[in-house]
Amino acid sequence: MRTLTGITPSGTLHIGNYFGAMRPAIQAQARGDCFYFIADYHSMTSVFDPEERRRNSHGIALDWLACGLDPATCVLWRQSDVPEVCELTWMIGSLTPMGLLERAHSYKDKIAKGLSPNFGLFAYPVLMAADILLYDTNAVPVGRDQKQHVEMARDIAIKFNQAYGETFVVPEPEIRESVAVVPGLDGQKMSKSYGNTLEIFGEEKALRKKVMSIVMDSRTPQELKPDADRNLAVQLLKLVAPPEIALDLENRLRSGGLGYGDLKKALFEHYWTYFSAARARRAELASDPGYIERTLREGAERARAVASVVLKRARKASGLE
Ligand code: TRP
Repeated sequence: MRTLTGITPSGTLHIGNYFGAMRPAIQAQARGDCFYFIADYHSMTSVFDPEERRRNSHGIALDWLACGLDPATCVLWRQSDVPEVCELTWMIGSLTPMGLLERAHSYKDKIAKGLSPNFGLFAYPVLMAADILLYDTNAVPVGRDQKQHVEMARDIAIKFNQAYGETFVVPEPEIRESVAVVPGLDGQKMSKSYGNTLEIFGEEKALRKKVMSIVMDSRTPQELKPDADRNLAVQLLKLVAPPEIALDLENRLRSGGLGYGDLKKALFEHYWTYFSAARARRAELASDPGYIERTLREGAERARAVASVVLKRARKASGLE
């Protein structure tokens, strides 16, 4: 069973990205046949600085590899290194009704946020469908916000198969319902757009300061806190500390034996330790300047081996050959 997902090269990753998307994807490698790519064509609708795009694609590959993505186990490549996906985009786009694209929530959201509509923004779901269909994908693990896009890929696959005969595997979305929703440093969902993130990688002093400035209420350390389980630092601690330690700190907070300052200090230490192996690995990988580029190119070769077979099938079915 082939699993495929796209990684948006969106700058600095935070622990919400880690627990929400990266950790499940890294664990899924054990199932085998995982195809992961860095969606740099998709970034062209939002990033217009070439250096920024290069830096983001490279940086995100480094981050994922440091966190445990294994390029020997999964196929990891940069989307634009297999430009065949653009040909498929055209082929399936020609069968995609305007109405289907006009109903896309993400398109409507982006326009509502003030992005000026362009073809790329509108056609984004078609490119995403091509990403999925080009690799005979069975399962697409995505967040809830991307479910509609995967359903569009299904609709498009079915339409193509009806028009030209069985060509594409019809993919299924795999919605990550059970993964942790990580609260941000202000208690809302952690998200770059809320400015409430705690980064996975970064400078120790600045990150310590971020943790220590989480706002708590004005109760004294000695006051009982029956709501200790809802404390933001406790919730974050449960993600990064061994369960018995997180529970012990929660109990001490509840019974009036722990102040907020000490709680936040403990949170920082456990968070810092949790990512220390990844941090070391990231530094090691970064010290070989050609490593990422080599890895992505090798991945692209493996991806292309699959893509060329599927594209040929689609070209033949539709009479291009
Ligand atoms: N659009 C996805 C996102 O924003 C990223 C993506 C691009 C993707 N192509 C994909 C995800 C194909 C799954 C399958 O998160």
